Amino acid sequence: MPTTIQLDATQPTDVEKAAGLLRAGHLVAVPTETVYGLAADASNDQAVRKVFGAKQRPVGHPLIVHLASPGRISLWVDPVPQNAMDLIQAFWPGPLTLLLPKKPGVSDFITGGNPGVAVRMPSHPATLAIMDTLGRDLVAPSANPYGRISPTTAEHVLAGLSGKIDAVVDGGDCSVGIESTIVDLTGDTPVIARPGHVAQNDIEACLGTTLAPGQGVNQAVPGSVKRHYQPVTPTVGVASERMTRLLPELTPTGEKVGVIWWHSPPGERAYESIMLSADPHEYARMLYTAMHAIDTTTVDRIVIELPPREKRWLAVHDRLTRACTEQFA
Ligand code: TXA
Ligand code: MG
Repeated sequence: MPTTIQLDATQPTDVEKAAGLLRAGHLVAVPTETVYGLAADASNDQAVRKVFGAKQRPVGHPLIVHLASPGRISLWVDPVPQNAMDLIQAFWPGPLTLLLPKKPGVSDFITGGNPGVAVRMPSHPATLAIMDTLGRDLVAPSANPYGRISPTTAEHVLAGLSGKIDAVVDGGDCSVGIESTIVDLTGDTPVIARPGHVAQNDIEACLGTTLAPGQGVNQAVPGSVKRHYQPVTPTVGVASERMTRLLPELTPTGEKVGVIWWHSPPGERAYESIMLSADPHEYARMLYTAMHAIDTTTVDRIVIELPPREKRWLAVHDRLTRACTEQFA
């Protein structure tokens, strides 16, 4: 079991240290704009395999390859279609992952044996600097134990993976707060395989095409299981307009309930309360941090007030559906 050391993203010597550990085949959690990633040298199969052990993630769930520059895509993808170039031009570096035909020779440990490989260029300067120093690309799933809430701070990473990874690079709070949008470009038409900060409208505007409606939760993405992103505490979702009536029912005498409010003022029945935001991006930025915070209190149950069922809340609802064991929509 390694002792997990803490590195500081603002210190060049720590960036060097992180790159050195990765070069030696060790696991280092790194900040990205979406969530913290559990990084390993993508060119080292032994290092890639360690990722599955540390996260307790089933082998066969493929990993996203993180690139230091758009040009490195040709090491992993062949051919690179024009629509991929257009999306890269518009959204990289940033929270957009592209699923593309893999180049022969790309490791099955990375792709789970799929014909496609997922690639993205993150925007956090420290992680870009680490990759530049290393001169290689990184696989990086979210740095949480399998099925649990993704980490948006270095403390979250340590709470879940301390002793299982070699280092965490503290780069502050993640600015997006939920995982990247995944667009599958391997079929006849682009498909959003995982909704995120980059919305369907943004993709459509860039490509000049309309994507089929209702896409967004594609079970074809292997890690896209229904129960995911879950707090340890039992968690239910309740539609905003049903909160007043249902909260007392969901609060049996003697039980402590923690509520994550959408943006209504906290009600007095809750033992712990966190208020999020009426803005979907701001809500997404705060969501996992709120879930981690309330999950570490002594509450017996978590109630999440659900935002409206509108298109702009799609990415948030995708995560809430998986986080909650039950929803009263
Ligand atoms: O924002 C993000 O994407 C974060 C940060 C760290 O970059 N990473 C992340 O990785 O969310 P992970 O492993 O937690 O989720 C990646 C998703 C999984 O659902 C996986 O199945 C899918 O991407 N995926 C990766 N490679 C794939 C492939 N070759 N074929 C199909 N799905 C793939
Ligand atoms: Mg994940």
